[in-house]
Amino acid sequence: MSLPHSLEFTLFPRNHTLMKTLLTGGAGYIGTHTAVELLQSGHEVVIYDNFSNSHPEAVRRVEKITAQKVAMVTGDVRDQTALEAAIQAHHVDSVVHLAGKKAVGESVAQPVDYFDNNVNGTLVLLRAMQATGVRKLVFSSSATVYGVPQYLPYDEAHPTSAMNPYGRSKLMVEEILADLYHSDPSWGLAVLRYFNPIGAHSSGWIGEDPAGIPNNLLPYIAQVAVGRRDAVQVFGSDYPTPDGTGVRDYIHVMDLARGHVKALEKLQAQHSPQLLTLNLGTGQGHSVLDVIHAFEAACHKTIPYVLADRRAGDLASYYAAPHAAQQTLGWQAQYDLTTMCADAWRWQSQNPNGYLS
Ligand code: WQD
Repeated sequence: MSLPHSLEFTLFPRNHTLMKTLLTGGAGYIGTHTAVELLQSGHEVVIYDNFSNSHPEAVRRVEKITAQKVAMVTGDVRDQTALEAAIQAHHVDSVVHLAGKKAVGESVAQPVDYFDNNVNGTLVLLRAMQATGVRKLVFSSSATVYGVPQYLPYDEAHPTSAMNPYGRSKLMVEEILADLYHSDPSWGLAVLRYFNPIGAHSSGWIGEDPAGIPNNLLPYIAQVAVGRRDAVQVFGSDYPTPDGTGVRDYIHVMDLARGHVKALEKLQAQHSPQLLTLNLGTGQGHSVLDVIHAFEAACHKTIPYVLADRRAGDLASYYAAPHAAQQTLGWQAQYDLTTMCADAWRWQSQNPNGYLS
């Protein structure tokens, strides 16, 4: 949608102009929710995805929720020619970079794939952006870059370290972006360190749809609730936490999506160079058993679980100091664990086999 300036400000009375944003990995879990939030804020999106771990149906669902046609390009983030063509054909002015591989265990087994997709993919994207003059980028990073907590909550000044190739790939990209920013003041860069995104859009039309056996807690619980799996394995019940199970900062994916919109609008509004590095979390920690019980309340079923050994590489507990995002972006998480579980259950119960339902 392209509007004359005066009309723009009548329809969208805010202190920034509308954007046209390329979402790499835009058909995935975070991407679809971010696309909805961008479109409903009046911006335009182009979804760029190789569909290696996502479905075109997810993009159709975004169209259904927003009642808008969404531009979609099938391409790999390591394909500079395809990226430049997409950016130019759609007059893109900003990028949210979500394309990448994200399973910690797989990254230990296949480090070359992880560095190729996540680090090389980002370098190719940056070259495509340089070639086309697009200078605003939001990057999907992770709380995993903080490594073993030296103190909690993690604030953005906490030292960083990588515990596996996945985390190292995120940290390497963060360092590349910092060097880029120092080399060229025309860039606006936002590094968003996600805590544990869960939940789904309130429509129940889009949500998390992992291929194979879920690695992450929430989709596993949801698949047990819907009858696809027998019982949740609770990885560790002897941690030094209130109930002995691991504690994390779970954040509603729609809050996370809104954080991306706020970050993009901040980059767009300020003409001075910027490198923002911000946590996106709630500041609240919940244990594995807290999450199981909240999900039971949402789905009105008992979730069978078994106490199992600790999972290699897991930390006992971590959660965010969320204040920097509040001060910088005016963003804070709004949804609590009850809503996150209710929305995740609506998605899972309406789509028991995900997008292939
Ligand atoms: C949460 C808690 C588990 C599964 C990882 C990455 C992070 C991010 C999200 C990107 C832990 C416990 C889990 C299960 C369980 N990456 N658990 N039974 O490990 O905090 O974060 O995924 O996408 O960078 O490190 O998330 O959901 O796997 O685990 O008991 O079947 O649930 O031990 O305490 P995690 P998670």
